Amino acid sequence: MSNATKEYNTEIVKISNLFVSKSKIKKMASIIKSGNVVAFPTETVYGLGANALNSNAVNKIFKAKGRPSDNPLIVHISNYDQLDKLTTYIPINAKKLMDKFWPGPLTIILKKTNLVPDETTAKRPSVGIRMPNHKIALALIEQSGCPIAAPSANSFSKPSPTLAKHVAEDLTGKISAIIDGGNCKVGVESTIIDFSDVKRIADKPIILRPGGVTIEAIESIIGNVNLHETVLDPKQKVKNALAPGMKYKHYSPNANVILFESKTISDVVDFKKEISNSKSIGIITLNQDISSFDIDFKEIKAVKSSEILAKEIFKFFREMDEKGIDTIIVDKIPNKDLGISILNRVKKAASKII
Ligand code: TXA
Ligand code: MG
Repeated sequence: MSNATKEYNTEIVKISNLFVSKSKIKKMASIIKSGNVVAFPTETVYGLGANALNSNAVNKIFKAKGRPSDNPLIVHISNYDQLDKLTTYIPINAKKLMDKFWPGPLTIILKKTNLVPDETTAKRPSVGIRMPNHKIALALIEQSGCPIAAPSANSFSKPSPTLAKHVAEDLTGKISAIIDGGNCKVGVESTIIDFSDVKRIADKPIILRPGGVTIEAIESIIGNVNLHETVLDPKQKVKNALAPGMKYKHYSPNANVILFESKTISDVVDFKKEISNSKSIGIITLNQDISSFDIDFKEIKAVKSSEILAKEIFKFFREMDEKGIDTIIVDKIPNKDLGISILNRVKKAASKII
């Protein structure tokens, strides 16, 4: 962790996802109720939670994470009644998506009420809302009696945490408590869809970030949606970024990340030049034929599907840093379904795409 002073004696509390201990949840909820910050597991990544309607509590999230205050937070709910406090208008297609994908990895951006403080939404007139599909997260929100604002529980610019120990690496001493609920099933963050400018059924919402719910699945429910330009090309310089998080460096391990997308021999020559100075290489790939890698590598992880790759990628980044690997190669990822979401993250972390 950084050399910032340790303000908190961060408590790590193990809670089983199979049997969610009510007394432990009560204790964690009491911390949220008192206006403090608790990291908790969700199905996507760990979140850094505080009472979304309490501006002082929300400020503590920004401070712990080192997050720029112009980057709004997602508000997590456990039941539909909480929507009334947060939003003034739910378009029909947004409702359809809630019915289909909640609880789950989909964040829906809607017009906000005056009850939601400026700190939570970074002064935006809209609020991002999601109902997570995770027993511990839902129990914590329910017991806290308030919606919980939570960004991913990593330090600013680090890979998102999919294990409690990742949160501890980044935030020990900076928050009150961490709930250790094991690994996150999805592994990449929620898909974000913006309905805040949708007034009629013909208005199309905009996907701001691809994530755990695929674009294909969304379109199968509500028809064509618009994609923000940073969905497929996340390194775009966005002048007026709709999701302010888009403009910051993200998901970066210390190692140099290279994304391999080549098809031709000359690309491969370029590639060899690119890695010629690397002292140690780690590869993550969907290719099961490890012997086909004609380079010297120290670590390799071959995964069988995009689902597993999504679950493993951030963890792999952190593991390579721990092992002192200086170059991470992410092998070709098909540009469809969950692959779109993984590519979006890897392109942000990558120094080079070959
Ligand atoms: O899966 C997830 O979404 C995780 C878990 C913890 O729920 N959360 C997460 O939060 O990824 P965070 O803060 O790391 O990313 C949230 C993104 C940011 O890029 C932010 O700019 C955008 O959502 N966002 C939030 N509210 C918004 C709003 N009202 N308008 C536009 N973008 C918004
Ligand atoms: Mg994040």
